[in-house]
Amino acid sequence: MWNHGPNMWESMLEEEIEFPELSVEEMSDLMTYLYFSSFIDPPGDPIRGGEHFTDKGCVGCHEPDLAKDLLGTRVGMNVSQMKLQSSSEVVAAMWNHASEMDEATRSSNIAWPQFRPGEMVDLVAFIQSRSEASTTP
Ligand code: HEC
Repeated sequence: MWNHGPNMWESMLEEEIEFPELSVEEMSDLMTYLYFSSFIDPPGDPIRGGEHFTDKGCVGCHEPDLAKDLLGTRVGMNVSQMKLQSSSEVVAAMWNHASEMDEATRSSNIAWPQFRPGEMVDLVAFIQSRSEASTTP
């Protein structure tokens, strides 16, 4: 779904279909459906997810201090400021903010980050662990 995002939005625009915002419950139902159709893997590894967060260029906008030679301009919020606990919350937030991210990547001339099977679950586990850490004093 993520990899095809920009193409989906373009087609939606052409067909005048409104962007489908998803609530956490709806995303959770959708993920359960996809899980049982075996499109989604078992829980991911937050350490590997942190590596993807850097490799895929997420740091450039969300943690510019760690970005080094990447973009280095804060556009999105810090991961520890995201209050996302369940994996459905993370995925729903990414999905619902995807058009803003699409605009931000286009205007910064960054390619839309692509994922191989298994990488997205690791990334979600990483964001979840950071967000959880931020909610415990
Ligand atoms: C070109 C800049 C840019 C890149 C690259 C980028 N994002 Fe974002 N992201 C944004 C913007 C802008 C928003 C919306 C504002 C905000 O919530 O910080 C956002 C929002 C989010 C949110 C929702 C935060 C919340 O709590 O509602 C998540 C989760 C997220 N991004 C994850 C990622 C991940 C994972 C990657 C890498 C695959 C990534 N972003 C790459 C700019 C970017």
